[in-house]
Amino acid sequence: MHVFIAGGAGYIGSCTTEYLLDHGHQVTVFDALLNGHRQAVDPRANFVKGNLAELDVLEAAVEQARPDGIIHFAAFIEVGESMKDPLKYFRNNVANAINLCQAAADNGVRKVVFSSTAAVYGMPRHLPIAEQEPKQPINPYGESKLMFEKILDWQHQLRGLQYTALRYFNAAGATQAHGEDHHPETHLIPLVMQAATGERRQIFIYGDDYDTPDGTCSRDYIHVLDLAQAHLLALESDYCGSLNLGTGGGNSVKQVIDAVRRVCGHDIPVEIAPRRPGDPARLVADSAAAKRILGWKPQFENLDAIVESAWAWKQRHPHGYQE
Ligand code: UFG
Repeated sequence: MHVFIAGGAGYIGSCTTEYLLDHGHQVTVFDALLNGHRQAVDPRANFVKGNLAELDVLEAAVEQARPDGIIHFAAFIEVGESMKDPLKYFRNNVANAINLCQAAADNGVRKVVFSSTAAVYGMPRHLPIAEQEPKQPINPYGESKLMFEKILDWQHQLRGLQYTALRYFNAAGATQAHGEDHHPETHLIPLVMQAATGERRQIFIYGDDYDTPDGTCSRDYIHVLDLAQAHLLALESDYCGSLNLGTGGGNSVKQVIDAVRRVCGHDIPVEIAPRRPGDPARLVADSAAAKRILGWKPQFENLDAIVESAWAWKQRHPHGYQE
């Protein structure tokens, strides 16, 4: 297949690009490099620098690539920022994403795979979370992702577009070549690694009075290569709808810090801070549907292995990407 990857210079986009190329597919990466990195674009991929907001540039790139499928990763992802600047999120994650749908329709692209999120569920009532759980986002980020899922579904019903929306839980880990390098960094594992190397003085634990065994929030950390595998399976599948991607297990903030300590062997100064607004105590995926429908088989079920891959990438890229 030739796959057009919007956002292929970002964290999950670059790892998925690498995975598809390793599996014999051709990839065109389309990325504005606002948050992505030029160095994260796999050298085997075609690269077009462009923004989804520019419909003519996007249309030309899709027409040139004539892809069999499109994967859409090109979204803003910071929950906190979305609370401060909601229109930034709706403009890019909804309005600009509609341009991608338009380009897919105009060029007869069969399938779109969309990078969605557990944030569509808001504060879930039942654990583990299945796809049928009520979708009640509590921030514009989650709402923008849910809105685009619905747009894809209407395109499916009325225009015959095939689509799969993949709702990731906490993406983590790295490949040999590609890893996580956000500016600013807000995600737990990279921040804990920065505390381990002394790049930051300590890691703040946002709340230790949650209703969990050790009082800190628990999340379902899923390896980025397992996410990549699911994207390829979704492209190959005729299934249309939304699927959760997680391991079905949970690790607390303290367990993550302990895992990083074990893997890197450094002391990690920790400080307890107030709760971060909007954090549910626990998020765990029920991914039975993705396993059954796509034949998805996650390979990394153990937090230490996930952290080891992230730590190995960080040692090779101590300051992240250079460009
Ligand atoms: N945390 C800390 N200290 C930090 C950073 C994070 O204690 O310095 C805690 C958070 O409070 C949370 C956990 O670590 O309990 C994980 O936090 P992340 O920011 O790494 O991830 P989130 O679970 O908040 O968010 C992730 C994705 C979002 C997505 C969300 C879905 O990054 O894009 O899951 O629920 F929206």
